[in-house]
Amino acid sequence: MSGEKEKVASRFRSSIDTLKQEGVLPAMKTILIGPAAFEALKRLPSVEPMLSSSIAFSGLTELELLFAQCNDIYGHLPLLYRTSVDHRLREALELGTRGGESTLALLHAARRIDGRVTSVDLHRSGSVHDRVDEAGLASYWTFIQSDDLGLAWDRSIDHLFVDTSHAYDHTIRELQKYEPLVRHGGVISMHDTTSQPDVWRAIQDYFHARDDVSIFRYFHNNGLAQVLKH
Ligand SMILES: C[S@@+](CC[C@H](N)C(=O)[O-])C[C@H]1O[C@@H](n2cnc3c(N)ncnc32)[C@H](O)[C@@H]1O
Repeated sequence: MSGEKEKVASRFRSSIDTLKQEGVLPAMKTILIGPAAFEALKRLPSVEPMLSSSIAFSGLTELELLFAQCNDIYGHLPLLYRTSVDHRLREALELGTRGGESTLALLHAARRIDGRVTSVDLHRSGSVHDRVDEAGLASYWTFIQSDDLGLAWDRSIDHLFVDTSHAYDHTIRELQKYEPLVRHGGVISMHDTTSQPDVWRAIQDYFHARDDVSIFRYFHNNGLAQVLKH
């Protein structure tokens, strides 16, 4: 049987099992979206209730609202914020801004500790600038539209956040360029270490002979690794 036919047959077999165990509607869903997606959908309410039900929040601060909006990085925003605040990492450099989720978390931290954030991206997004303005955080922020590898940068960095191409060679070159500027006691946070295995591979290869760092890996929400420089 060809691969495609085997897939369809397996989907029907799973849906018959589902029909016996759970009834008609779940069986139809299994046929339509496939058993793996159906299983994932079933797990969703317990993995992240905020995604599937309307939890009514009230009285949240602006920062808490940022943390409570589910997206591809939201599970790491409290960590980014706390890392900057708790370690007083006042000089943050962010590589990769897009919608500005990480930018806002870092900027809220900057306001707490009187720090500043420089963000670098190939593209300028008006909506990110609007979000930063509306949050009253513009005075803590510098945005530079540039390829991060082409940027002239020689300032010391306390917190380096990397979330750009996720390509192996590019990630290695980002580390070669910016890691030496991260001061002792500083932190490098790198997103997508689970969903983009090349990012994790680049971290492992770049730091493999180093005994002056400790690396901690979070697996959820696309993954995030933090490298602490002793
Ligand atoms: C995954 S998004 C960043 C998401 C962002 N951290 C957030 O929390 O919303 C990746 C971003 O990296 C940018 N990017 C990709 N390659 C880049 C490069 N070489 N230099 C600068 N920015 C780059 C893209 O333009 C894109 O906006």
